[in-house]
Amino acid sequence: MLKSLLRRIGNRSPVEIGHLAIKNVRHAIAALGPEARAARAADLAFDRRWGTDTSGGLSTRELGYGDDLAERCRRYDPSSEAMLRAPVSALGLDPAEHAFIDYGAGKGRVLMMAMEMGFRHVVGIELSEHLCEIAKSNIATFVAQHPGMDQAEIVAGDATAYRPSGRSIVAYFYNPFDASIMAEVRTRLEEALGVGAEAVTVIYANPEHDAVFRDAPRWAAGPLLPGISTFRLTT
Ligand SMILES: C[S@@+](CC[C@H](N)C(=O)[O-])C[C@H]1O[C@@H](n2cnc3c(N)ncnc32)[C@H](O)[C@@H]1O
Repeated sequence: MLKSLLRRIGNRSPVEIGHLAIKNVRHAIAALGPEARAARAADLAFDRRWGTDTSGGLSTRELGYGDDLAERCRRYDPSSEAMLRAPVSALGLDPAEHAFIDYGAGKGRVLMMAMEMGFRHVVGIELSEHLCEIAKSNIATFVAQHPGMDQAEIVAGDATAYRPSGRSIVAYFYNPFDASIMAEVRTRLEEALGVGAEAVTVIYANPEHDAVFRDAPRWAAGPLLPGISTFRLTT
């Protein structure tokens, strides 16, 4: 706990530490309010409907990430249904025309949402082996209730090692890692254009490092939603 606190404070100035403390107090107060209660209820609703296990969060310590990884990789928290449905609708995407990748797939909730929405080929990359096992079990439970549905693929490993493929790709990120990993993943997505892909669309929720795409010459910003940035790369 103390280690994680020291890591977050890092080299920040007293003013920055003050802002961080205020942000945390605001967060704690908001967590008691009606909006947070509604969000918690919505968070549980997905699992209640499908009998899956995707709710709640897990810290990087609980995921077994050592100090080095915890610096660069983020904790597990599930996306809400709106975090995928709203940008897909704002972008006017036809899921049947796109392959879907969730970078940092966690327990697989976004993968199941993408399968339900009819994305053509759904893949999740997840660093934690433990979360990969949970995601596989969740997906099996979900598919059993959707006869004929194609099962999402889970790839265990670091997002930077994955080589995306498909003609039109949607890459989803729920703030899974820091800017340096994000920049490497952006390069992998750019490389996909050289080997058959014609377009890549990024949906980035809680976009802490969206400058990685905003400042990259080949990427165009798409619709901006509350807490969600989108970007597009075409040939
Ligand atoms: C905020 S959670 C998002 C989970 C899921 N995408 C969702 O939206 O419900 C971020 C996930 O990214 C994973 N992650 C962090 N760094 C990663 C990396 N370098 N490669 C693959 N997964 C990573 C974490 O283990 C965690 O499960």
